[in-house]
Amino acid sequence: MTRHVACEAGPGAPGAADPGKLSLGEAAAEAAGLHESLHRHNRLYYVEAAPEISDSAYDALFRRLQALEAAHPSLGTADSPTRRVGADPLETLPGIEHAAPMLSLDSAREVAEVRRFDDRLRKALGDEEVRYVLEPKLDGASLELVYVGGVLERAVTRGNGRVGEGVTENVRTIRTVPLRLRRDELPAPAFLAVRGEAMMHLSDFESLNQRRIEADEPPYQNPRNATSGALRQLDSRIAARRPLTVLAYDVMVVAGAAFDSDSEGIAALKAWGFRTPERVTLARSVEEIAAYHRAFDADRESLDYEIDGVVAKLDALAPRAVLGSTAHHPRWAIAFKFEPRKEVTRIDRIFVSVGRTGVLTPVALLRPVEVGGVTVSRASLHNREELERKDLREGDLVRVQRAGDVIPQIVERIDDETRVRGEPFAMPAACPSCGTEPRAKGPFTVCPNHLACRAQLKARIAHFGSRGALDIEGLGEETAALLVDKGLVGELADLFDLTVEDLVPLEGFGEVSARNLVGAIRDRKRVELARFLVGLGIPEVGAAVARDLALHFRGIEALRAAPEEALAEIRGVGEKMSAAIRGFFEIPDVRDALDRLLGRGFRFIVPEAPPAGDEAKEGWAGKTIVLTGSMKDGPRSELARELRRRGARVAGSVSSRTDLLVAGANPGSKLEKARRLGVEVLDEARLRARLSAPRAGGAVD
Ligand code: IVH
Repeated sequence: MTRHVACEAGPGAPGAADPGKLSLGEAAAEAAGLHESLHRHNRLYYVEAAPEISDSAYDALFRRLQALEAAHPSLGTADSPTRRVGADPLETLPGIEHAAPMLSLDSAREVAEVRRFDDRLRKALGDEEVRYVLEPKLDGASLELVYVGGVLERAVTRGNGRVGEGVTENVRTIRTVPLRLRRDELPAPAFLAVRGEAMMHLSDFESLNQRRIEADEPPYQNPRNATSGALRQLDSRIAARRPLTVLAYDVMVVAGAAFDSDSEGIAALKAWGFRTPERVTLARSVEEIAAYHRAFDADRESLDYEIDGVVAKLDALAPRAVLGSTAHHPRWAIAFKFEPRKEVTRIDRIFVSVGRTGVLTPVALLRPVEVGGVTVSRASLHNREELERKDLREGDLVRVQRAGDVIPQIVERIDDETRVRGEPFAMPAACPSCGTEPRAKGPFTVCPNHLACRAQLKARIAHFGSRGALDIEGLGEETAALLVDKGLVGELADLFDLTVEDLVPLEGFGEVSARNLVGAIRDRKRVELARFLVGLGIPEVGAAVARDLALHFRGIEALRAAPEEALAEIRGVGEKMSAAIRGFFEIPDVRDALDRLLGRGFRFIVPEAPPAGDEAKEGWAGKTIVLTGSMKDGPRSELARELRRRGARVAGSVSSRTDLLVAGANPGSKLEKARRLGVEVLDEARLRARLSAPRAGGAVD
């Protein structure tokens, strides 16, 4: 649904007074009336699809307001309907912390998984009656909208869930987003953070692409990409021309209103003027969830927007706090996804790519095919054994599927009598990057040339700088490849010798970006030990193990000197992992490269000293825990002492840095706040159970 809105100030309604001749007071009074009326007609048109006036009548009101604001600039407030046309371009999008973490959803593909989720939930809640809210799972871009005093103050993309990008100017141009909350049914709350999904209707998306093709611009791949692109425009006047819409589905934080259930929250969102998802309903059983899933799946093709499943959420809010969340998703909701879409295409060619650890991965180049709105042109064939098992050859006809954002997969080969098949694909006898003879390692084929293999070196450097590792801004795959190809970096240590003069002549670099990269690298000489360990790319060592290793050894020298038996003793590090770690540090190339890297002078940050002994390994160490309410089985102070003994920090108040809230009887406002912030909550019995369990910690998964 698009509506033409005039952007130029023009004459007002016939007979209206010249805005320049009105006093500020008179102009303000007229502008207030126009605000009211334009907001209402905007909502009737875009949110309720029930317009009461013609486009030209709307335009006349709009232009009159523009003229008043042009004559009296102080009237151009943040919630003025004229703000919908966009503002001056920004230089960058600011990073903004969310009012509460924006978690994602755990997902299920089969009814059996939904049943397990339901069983777990019922078990945890005991006798409580369970009721779910069901909604479509909208396939767009998640957005946080924050209203202060009822006026849209900021809009932030999901980002990493904690911090996102401020896209307020762009979001102001989206007609389904209220700039001011409607107040005729409910008062506006003092503070409100709403979560919703920005998306594009398929019909709007198609006409947008049509226009782009006509203008010789590349069309967008799918509505979701077009939406994210538009949301993150630096020039909101461009965003204003993109047909975006927002459906709101969750009250994240509210002050000055209170709800007992999600459905009350949704009703309030409607009353405040948001557009909410269609067909929201309640269910009491897994059967009802499954029926809803089937019904939506059947109608999927006829909808004018993309959905990739349905969402079931526990309706009652109080028990949600009891269930809590993992670091990624709440335990009270699940996304029940649709079967991924499948399409048939042909393998044009198979080539081999060399990864960070030297693994040679066969990749199929496919004749491009659209699978559920995305063009797929390559798929990983994983490894030698998988390739042999599926017997895939160049020229074969195959069925490809795409499951959400996951890399496309080849499901099966389809017999094609019309062609003679090609030769079976054989893994190469030489590494395609460095020519070394690869070795078989289980199902994998590995180039043993480590850092002397350029492909591995490039991938290692990019990994070293990646988010989970040293998080060096500007050191991505492309830059890493460029630095290696230009001979500037032959090993990790060389990164720290780069100078601005080295970088400036390179393609894509200028004085500023060169300075930034050199600075970003230098800054990371002071870094968390765990990140450094992740960055080294030790086989089998992910973020969690790196943290455990950092806490245990507290320095790199102790770790690299540790014998296999000592490593294996650490909880969470099994035999296989300790052999892999030991093996890694024994590779002569690695040893030398690490010596040189450490020679650049690092200062490692290790979390607060945990207590000695087993407790340190249980995962309580470093956690910030708040106790509230009265405890049945012993005083609170005793529990606090016990938690401190295990390395936890016991704090007095709940904040976004709190890892866990332990709620005894009559918990009060701390529980409320923890729930709002998405902090994990445990009751006394569960805490005591964890304290006495063998691997008790890991309060936050
Ligand atoms: S609820 C804490 N409801 O799906 C739970 N999410 O990984 C908040 N999504 O990024 C999410 N439709 O953006 C919820 N009706 C719906 C949704 C929905 C789409 C998105 C959301 C999130 C992703 C789940």
